[in-house]
Amino acid sequence: MLTHPSSRSIYHFTPPSNWMNDPNGLVYYQGEYHLFYQYHPESPIWGPMHWGHAVGCDLVNWQHLPIALYPDENGMVFSGSVVIDWKDTAGFGEAVMLAVFTHHKEGRQNQNLAYSHDSGRTWTKYAGNPVLSAPEHLHDFRDPKVFWFGSQAEGHWVMCLAAGDRIMFFISPDLIHWTPCGQLGPGLIATAGVWETPDLFELCVDGSQETRWVLTIGVQGGCPAGGSGTQYFVGQFDGCTFTSENPPETILWADYGADYYAPQSWNNEPSQRRIMLGWMSNWQYANVTPFTTWRGMFSLPRELTLTRTAAGVRLVQQPVPELRNLRGEHKHWQNETIVPGANLLAGLQGDSFEIAADFQIGPDTESFGFRVRIGEGEQTTITYIPGEQKVTLDRTHSGQSDFHPGFARIHAADLAPIHGSLRLHIFVDHSSVEVFANHGQITLSDSIFPSAESLGLEMFSKYGATQLNALDFYHLEKKP
Ligand code: FRU
Repeated sequence: MLTHPSSRSIYHFTPPSNWMNDPNGLVYYQGEYHLFYQYHPESPIWGPMHWGHAVGCDLVNWQHLPIALYPDENGMVFSGSVVIDWKDTAGFGEAVMLAVFTHHKEGRQNQNLAYSHDSGRTWTKYAGNPVLSAPEHLHDFRDPKVFWFGSQAEGHWVMCLAAGDRIMFFISPDLIHWTPCGQLGPGLIATAGVWETPDLFELCVDGSQETRWVLTIGVQGGCPAGGSGTQYFVGQFDGCTFTSENPPETILWADYGADYYAPQSWNNEPSQRRIMLGWMSNWQYANVTPFTTWRGMFSLPRELTLTRTAAGVRLVQQPVPELRNLRGEHKHWQNETIVPGANLLAGLQGDSFEIAADFQIGPDTESFGFRVRIGEGEQTTITYIPGEQKVTLDRTHSGQSDFHPGFARIHAADLAPIHGSLRLHIFVDHSSVEVFANHGQITLSDSIFPSAESLGLEMFSKYGATQLNALDFYHLEKKP
């Protein structure tokens, strides 16, 4: 097994040890953000799935808690969500925490409940499980995302789940009896991959009263950066079913890197923000990445909004402001002309940092950007190419990569400047790089495995000068 060359990420969530995949059961309850996750506590390889558990109050610092749900005679505990049953619709008590998850056993999948009376510290599986069984012919029937639709006084529970090449919607008055009420399916398929881990939520457009619903899904294969990735749809949800407002040919991706999968958003976020995070890996190689004592990491929590573009209403993702509390040593530059060969960041080193830079796009630069985690034969490069209006994230020389032929690649996304300017906001944390470009219009998230000594940084401009309006560099550190 390959040894992980770098030490653990300091501000991204990682499991205490061994294997982790999807985030599950994200919910805010009585002062705590809960984070559950697909967990194999005994091995660095995917296996009998449990729900691991952590809590925190700021989306950045997490405290590991004992395992919440264990596999049993009914099967493994696959992905799902947690809701707070404020009105005791299910009969387990008022304001009880309820997990809705998939049991997987011998190729059959069904939906189940577990409840907790002590803020998620201990759980009891419902004796009447399963609450929703797969139709006989369906092999894939999993990953329920449940939320309350309507006002507190009047409404119902909604469940969306992934069933192969479609998302199915169900409604319920009590979380126990579920009625099918629609699906989004064939004809809107991006790829041949199986769909997984849906999430569905309403967002404002450009901060106005106008809203749209967004449906995110995990697609197992054929995504822009290869392997698994996250697609999204924009449309309307009437409490029963979702209708996309775009034709099937319009395929929208939430991230253009290789490592943003199975994302889920928090239910009941106290300030009504929609905050989502994803698993920073890819089923192509998740089981074979370098490893010391843990395997798997989550992305930064991102705040989601919608904006209207010439092409239609699109998702915008920004790192949550809570991350600013990590900022340590700061360097600032403004109005610099970057000429080829010069390196504004020559004096800096780091493996956990943030760069926020605004550029003015000139007529004669071929490309410009940043190299991070530079060392002996190693670098990871973030580039903007004005002529092609593209941002790229190149991990072909980022460190260990020979564990899978699909890993050492350049990932790219189309992006036009806004009134001639471009903003790159970059987060590096040991073995991850996340790029939020033009205020979160597009994101690229990749894992990397550089050696611990690769700490160099560079800002470059190729074949012509680049005008830098402003650049802020922050070392990021965990504060006690
Ligand atoms: C997505 C997924 C889910 C499933 C879980 C199993 O990564 O395949 O569909 O519930 O992982 O660990």
